[in-house]
Amino acid sequence: MAEAPHKILVTGVAGFLGSHLLDKLLASGHQVIGIDNLSMGKLENIAEHLSNKAFQFIQKDVTEKSTFENLENDIDCIVHLAAFKIPRYGKAIDTLKINYQGTENVLELARNLNCKCVLASTSDVYGRNPKLPFNEDDNSVIGSSKVARWSYAVSKLFDEHLAFAYQDSYDIPVVILRFFGSYGPRHHLSWWGGPQSVFIEQILNDGEISIHGDGLQTRSFTYVSDTVAGIYAATIKPEANGEIFNIGSDREITILDLAKTIKGLSNTPGELKVKFVPYESFTGNKYEDVRRRVPDSTRCEQILGVKAEVKLEEGLSRTIAWHRSLNLYKY
Ligand SMILES: NC(=O)c1ccc[n+]([C@@H]2O[C@H](COP(=O)([O-])OP(=O)(O)OC[C@H]3O[C@@H](n4cnc5c(N)ncnc54)[C@H](O)[C@@H]3O)[C@@H](O)[C@H]2O)c1
Repeated sequence: MAEAPHKILVTGVAGFLGSHLLDKLLASGHQVIGIDNLSMGKLENIAEHLSNKAFQFIQKDVTEKSTFENLENDIDCIVHLAAFKIPRYGKAIDTLKINYQGTENVLELARNLNCKCVLASTSDVYGRNPKLPFNEDDNSVIGSSKVARWSYAVSKLFDEHLAFAYQDSYDIPVVILRFFGSYGPRHHLSWWGGPQSVFIEQILNDGEISIHGDGLQTRSFTYVSDTVAGIYAATIKPEANGEIFNIGSDREITILDLAKTIKGLSNTPGELKVKFVPYESFTGNKYEDVRRRVPDSTRCEQILGVKAEVKLEEGLSRTIAWHRSLNLYKY
């Protein structure tokens, strides 16, 4: 196994984080094989690299075992980002099946190739733990299995356990990355992309901002270049092997203040218009929110040498400019 991975397989390559990671890997001289079924990702996110000889794109599904047959056998590291996120409005079945089956297939490949595997997890695994900031060794406090939203955290916790079980049983190095609210250009233009994406859309369209609950729940938001710096360091640094890392900014902000900040930065006329949407009104399943969320980023700084640098106002301004470049909005 090479010390510093050269050829890297990225699943979910056409998604938000995957496409930014691809930019970084190719700019750093790596060879990349990217897999995505384009269910949520977009070909346009990776279009500029499709003719690059250092990049091979495979449009396939990670839940199919056959996707991983006949791949080149000189892959040094797999970064597994393909996943289905929190079922805020939808059903838990995709979240559970894609996140379990995809990860098992990826770990089997890592075992066959005897290569390192970096796995995307989430801040959601801390659940309702009231102890802040969240440290990687803290407990996961997960709600009832009758509340579908917990299926995401549980699927990622299962993936984390499976990864460490593969490391113990088959001696392949694994790294777990728990991302905290990454945002920036190319994030999804819906709740899939996070609240900041929807708020920017609503404000640029002179619309009413929908805030779930009372808006006093907090989150930390991390500009995509900082998230990608964490993924890249975890991929190339052997010191990262066998560890779990929080990847995120430790600036905590309420959702209501996020909306006010975006309104201020977007220079649109009029007052901020807010509509509070009770959680009970969501269709299809019961929803339960996490009240506060902020990472302890000490381990990321000490071992990966990465600290979130882009200030929230700067990152949001860049993201608002990207939204405007799409020419979809009133302002
Ligand atoms: N963005 C964040 O803030 C954040 C926070 C916590 C965790 N994560 C995790 O990071 C990873 C990447 O997130 P993202 O924001 O880039 O999401 P994304 O939805 O933009 O990217 C995921 C990509 O995976 C692809 N995909 C989904 N199912 C697939 C399948 N069965 N086969 C092949 N490809 C499939 C999608 O088409 C998409 O391009 C995910 O594992 C997610 O759970 C992200």
